[in-house]
Amino acid sequence: MSEPRTLAPPERRVAPVAGVERLGAYDLITAVDPSGPTNPRPGQFYMLAASEGWGGGTDERPYLPRAFSYARARKESDGLALSFLLEAVGPGTECLADLAPDAGLALVGPLGVGFRPPADGTRPLLVGGGIGAAPLLCWQEELGVMPPPPDVLLGFRSADHAQAAALFAGAPKIVTDDGSVGRQALVTELLAVELDADPSATVYACGPPAMLEAVRALCAERDVPAQLAMESGMACGFGACFGCVVPTRNGYVRLCVDGPVLDGDLLETALVAGAGH
Ligand SMILES: Cc1cc2nc3c(=O)[nH]c(=O)nc-3n(C[C@H](O)[C@H](O)[C@H](O)COP(=O)(O)OP(=O)(O)OC[C@H]3O[C@@H](n4cnc5c(N)ncnc54)[C@H](O)[C@@H]3O)c2cc1C
Ligand code: FES
Repeated sequence: MSEPRTLAPPERRVAPVAGVERLGAYDLITAVDPSGPTNPRPGQFYMLAASEGWGGGTDERPYLPRAFSYARARKESDGLALSFLLEAVGPGTECLADLAPDAGLALVGPLGVGFRPPADGTRPLLVGGGIGAAPLLCWQEELGVMPPPPDVLLGFRSADHAQAAALFAGAPKIVTDDGSVGRQALVTELLAVELDADPSATVYACGPPAMLEAVRALCAERDVPAQLAMESGMACGFGACFGCVVPTRNGYVRLCVDGPVLDGDLLETALVAGAGH
């Protein structure tokens, strides 16, 4: 894989938190990176930790930073305002979601390889499952300036989770597991309908492994290019620990440097052991 990468500077920076906004089941945390690269690419990620109270004590498990795709980036006079959409699923995410304004968010990044432009003659089709909506936000923003505008399909567990859809421009198509917003369906059902109506698409997907695998298979059956933003457990985030390796048709790759966005046709399956929550 030879995509250009925005290499992270070696240093860990501390970004003051500008705000944490509650969005139903999720939190949108925004912090201003004072001195990092100002050109992250949609689909890239940062390793995040609280600058204080992050491990070291008997009850403080976090210790290692956690990986998060950035959802938004805005240049401001004092740095790059980065927003991350979080789902509090454990001690690390809970600690980040509890950060108060002006607290320090320690970050390293941007890391990895993000989304690439759509294949010639295809329209971009963005497919998100749950918290997987996060990297699609900045990708929609970037694609929005070049015609045709991307269609966005989103699936959530419930209305509480579906509040994140309000962050998207236009009118994304939404389904939920419990039918509380949109139809009771899986987002891959929406995708199948879209592709059957018009298969000239490049699909960009992020979500839980079972969803990504369904997207991969649907696209492979129809010969539609797919770019999948995947997850695996990441300890370092920059290629040193090999904790994030996933199998591909070309052998194992480190998801943190060769991904997290991988081409669907590189994979036998997007069901990666140990990933997803
Ligand atoms: C490239 C990348 C981008 C990510 N982007 C986001 C994002 O934008 N927003 C967001 O909320 N989360 C994102 N994640 C997942 C996030 O890193 C985990 O939710 C976080 O590490 C959990 O830490 P914790 O201490 O809160 O919970 P833990 O106690 O560590 O884990 C709680 C649960 O989450 C699962 N889990 C832990 N780490 C991961 C992981 N890396 N991938 C999948 N499941 C995991 C565990 O199996 C467990 O079930 C991303 C992960 C990767 C690798
Ligand atoms: S997270 Fe350490 S090599 Fe990928």
